[in-house]
This record gives sequence, C-alpha cells and structure tokens, in this order.
Amino acid sequence: MSKPKVLITRRWPQSVEDKLQQRYDVSLNLDDHPLTADEFKDALQNYDAVCPSVCDSLPAEVLNVANKRCKILGNFGVGYNHIDINAAQQQGLIVTNTPGVLTQSTADIAMTLLLMSARRGAEGDRLIRAKQWTGWCPTHMMSSDVTGATLGLIGFGRIAQAMARKAHHGFGMKILYVKPTPADASIVNELQAVRCESIEQLLPQSDYVSLHCPGGEQTRHLINAKRLQLMKPSAHLINTARGDVVDSKALIACLQTRQIAGAGLDVYEGEPNINPDFLSLDNVTLLPHLGSATIATRTAMGEKVLANLQAFFAGEPLPDRVV
Ligand code: DGY
Repeated sequence: MSKPKVLITRRWPQSVEDKLQQRYDVSLNLDDHPLTADEFKDALQNYDAVCPSVCDSLPAEVLNVANKRCKILGNFGVGYNHIDINAAQQQGLIVTNTPGVLTQSTADIAMTLLLMSARRGAEGDRLIRAKQWTGWCPTHMMSSDVTGATLGLIGFGRIAQAMARKAHHGFGMKILYVKPTPADASIVNELQAVRCESIEQLLPQSDYVSLHCPGGEQTRHLINAKRLQLMKPSAHLINTARGDVVDSKALIACLQTRQIAGAGLDVYEGEPNINPDFLSLDNVTLLPHLGSATIATRTAMGEKVLANLQAFFAGEPLPDRVV
C-alpha cells in the first residue's frame, strides 16, 4: 500500500523531519519559504495531510478550494487563529494542534520580557553597543523592582499558571488573574492568587500585566486605549499571546507619552510586519515570536503533530483535535 502524502509547510527540527520521512511520502519545504495562497490550494488538492504552522494564513477562500484530497490539517503550534476554523469544519477538514509541550518555554519568554522591560535590559545592551556608556553612576538607567511586585494575568490557562509559578516562587510576586471561571483551588492556594472580577479591576492594581488569552475576533484589541489608561504609570505590559489582542497604535501612543513605563512584546499585529513606530521607542522590548523557540520544545511540538497524524491514519481517536 502506498504511504499517505504529507506536506509540511516550513522546516521542522531534523529529528522530526526524519521520522516523518520514514513514515510518510513527505514533501519538505527545503528553502523554508512562506507558502502563497495558491501553493496552499495546490497542497490541499494533492496531499492527504497538510501541516501548517502559526505563521501560515489559512482563510476560508483557501480552505474552500475545490477537489480537495486533504483530510487533516496537523497544525505545528498550539494557537490556531491563523486557520478559519468554521470554514475548516464546514469543509470536513480535521484540525489538530500541539498543546501542553510549549507551556514552560513560553512562560520563560514572558518572564524574560517582564525582566527585560522592568530592568531596561535591551536598552542597556543597545547603549553599550552604541559605545555610549560612560560608566557607572548612581542615577544611571534606574528601573523598577520585580521582586515583591504584583503580576496581573489576563487569562489563566497553562502558560499563565506556569508564569505565575515562576513569578511567585522565584520572585515573590503577588498574583492577580482574570478568568471567566475561578481557577482550581490547588493552584489558587499554592500561589495565593486573587481572582479579579474584570480586566478593569485587575489593571490599576498590577505592576506588570501579562496577556495569556487566545487570539481571534473575540479578543481583538482587548487591550485598547481605554484599558491602557487604567494601568499604573509605572506598569509594564507583556504580550506573548497574540499580536492582535493589543491595539498597537494605542499602545504606541501610550508608550510615547510614558502613560505606562514599558512593554515587552513577542507577538505583533500583522507580524512579521511590525509597526515601525515601535522601533524608535526605548521603552519597548521586542522579540521575534520566540515563545516556543527552544530545540526541545520545537521537537516536542513536531512529535505532537506526528502523534496526531499517526492516530488519524490508524483511524484512532486524535490526541489534540480542535475540530
Ligand atoms: C503557538 O504555538 O501558538 C505559538 O505561538 C508558537 O510559539
């Protein structure tokens, strides 16, 4: 029997690509270029499984292509706001994702951004590279304390809870969170975490606000000009969730006028095209969507896709089915 035809849209860690090649008739994207809409349509017509990643856009007009051979989109990533899930469902396409394995690495990056923004890490690095450092002095680049400060988490799922643990146990931070339903008593007790009724209640009490909600229409511009005004002037906003959760124009205006002290961003509206106004601001730390970018995590993400494909082709229940 011939092997199923599988296309992966970007390069994956070598060990996972090797396993894919052993099991399937797989096409790799050897030059790692982002696929065009036409290449995606062609892939949907010619492969049994297509494995996109969070950088690929799969709107209805691509997914609705006629004469599809593809039955499953094995997404390399936990977030799936780049896929029109309703269209996929209507087209009878199964979608899977990779939850769980990127929790710690993404929480590490959120903590990295929090520390860099609070302690002006990127700014200091730029200063030295520009050969502008004239030496230690008592008032140079003073910044904000992290230890003992209050961290407000918007969303309190796996990644937020992992960050809260690092912040509370490692830095003695007080934890506030907003979530539609109360979190499990065990984590609340462990972290002495306090649930706020609303984002409006959380913002004025937090020294650092970290976003951990899914992307998509429901959370688009959740953090807007009105809500940014509720933050303390000394506060920092951290975003490792999705770029469009924050109204970037409103955030830029707020950073320009020092309405808040700083921001640390790993994700952007319309990434990789970043609003150029961010680039001239000293009080924003910018990372290129590095949340899950460790060798171990990216390998584990690939293994998750493999497990989903294996279950699908064996007719077994899928470990991480979205629709
Ligand atoms: C995901 O998997 O959704 C992440 O954004 C990739 O790091």
